[in-house]
Amino acid sequence: MEGTKHDGWASRWGMILAMAGSAVGLGNFLRFPVQASQNGGGAFIIPYLVSLVILGIPLMWMEWAMGRYGGAFTRGSLPSVFHLLWPRRVAKYLGGIGILLTFVVSVYYVYIESWSLAYSFFALTGRFERITEHTQMASFLKGFQGLERNEFFQGGGWAYFFLLVTLVINLWILSRGISKGIEWFSKLAMPLLFFMGLVLVVRVFSLGSPFRPDWNLNAALGFLWNPDFKALTNPGVWLAAAGQVFFTLSLGWGQILTYATYLHKNDDIALSGLTAVSLNEACEVILGASIGIIAAYLFFGPQMTVEIAKGGSFDLGFVSMPVIFTQIPAGRLFAFFWFLLLFFAGITSSIALIQPSVHFLASAFDMDSTRASSIVGVVMFACVQPVYFFLGKGYLDELDFIAGTMGIVFFGLIEVVLFVWVFGANRAWKEITRDNDIAVPSFFKPLLTWVTPVALLVLLLAWCVKEAPAFLFFEGIPKEHIGTRWAARAFVLVMFSVICVLIKLKKERLTQMTALEVPE
Ligand code: ALA
Repeated sequence: MEGTKHDGWASRWGMILAMAGSAVGLGNFLRFPVQASQNGGGAFIIPYLVSLVILGIPLMWMEWAMGRYGGAFTRGSLPSVFHLLWPRRVAKYLGGIGILLTFVVSVYYVYIESWSLAYSFFALTGRFERITEHTQMASFLKGFQGLERNEFFQGGGWAYFFLLVTLVINLWILSRGISKGIEWFSKLAMPLLFFMGLVLVVRVFSLGSPFRPDWNLNAALGFLWNPDFKALTNPGVWLAAAGQVFFTLSLGWGQILTYATYLHKNDDIALSGLTAVSLNEACEVILGASIGIIAAYLFFGPQMTVEIAKGGSFDLGFVSMPVIFTQIPAGRLFAFFWFLLLFFAGITSSIALIQPSVHFLASAFDMDSTRASSIVGVVMFACVQPVYFFLGKGYLDELDFIAGTMGIVFFGLIEVVLFVWVFGANRAWKEITRDNDIAVPSFFKPLLTWVTPVALLVLLLAWCVKEAPAFLFFEGIPKEHIGTRWAARAFVLVMFSVICVLIKLKKERLTQMTALEVPE
């Protein structure tokens, strides 16, 4: 089982960079600044930090600990690690939910990531360099995505081409296994990402006031960071902050857990985990918050920036930012940096999202990583077709809601309950605190035993109450999109059934793997 059983992280830094890479993603550079500016500005950081401490860090350590524990015995995929923690048949299927969520998210995440690869190519070739108007740049994006034929594009051919290229790059990296693939690529991409991020921050901070003296850096930073404490009385702001912490740290998807199965039995998890979180937070709160929204303010002023934020992350990244780059000296280069940065952020996350499926196939069916990634690649190729062809019809949004919003909180809750309550709080705590380079503060024990699960439950219930009408009755969804929404739901169900059948087919093997001795 090359690529799974005998493969593992070759160096600690490589592993930390891969873990950080799985967290640092489009969410850091596009989602966070938009969320912060829409949810109380500086005051957003309060619920954000609270969520980080009571949800983010405990859950992150739990995923690392579960992975290290499971990996030390079986190098198992999610179903077998869950079965190891809870030797009941249903546990394997619960683990299957993690494979489902990561796979579903990867299917649309790869497509969005491919836009940034395409745009970095367009930046270098000067394809959007003459566009200085928002509306025109928005048409450029729509034309590229194949949503309309216009003066810039006569169809979505470029988008399709870059989607295929991105898919192939992802699977090629995964086919090379953990140390020669994921780790090697993360060691290359992450330092470059930090470098390009820093260059862009310096450039944005030195832009001055390109149009009006009052649209300056101070005012821009104030726009993003001046706290609106009234916002803290709005439960929606707390939900948004918790959702952002989940999304940015890639928690509740099972991908961190999967990466952690490649740790050695006595590897530290406390310090390495915190380092990965810190790298992610630096990319989010320092780099992510200092580029897009700040540049938008300097160029377009407060009112328009509010509109841009309302328009969402894609408007900021793929419409406003290129408009800005076309108006500054050496804009081609900075635009290239921006989109390549997004691409690196995206791909280090998407390989982590696809790996649980590759790992499952490889370990359950005795395949090497090349064969397992090829099979996953063929399935992904089929599954991205509706994402591409139904763009603008709600297919992607439905998948994002089911897997990327609700699913991760649901799966996060399953993970916590399984580890702390079924496996046992004392055993879980022993696993989290053993063989570390730093001591995990003891207050984390009651926190992760009580506070984290309760906070997750509250979060899940609040979301259900808030989103249930829209989800059940398609409230606010145009009639003509309801069909594609159903198609997205059917896809998720079919995928889950397939995963369950595969788990069942491999029943004996998984059972046999979990029969290995479990230490006290
Ligand atoms: N954590 C990844 C992101 O922020 C998924 O995009």
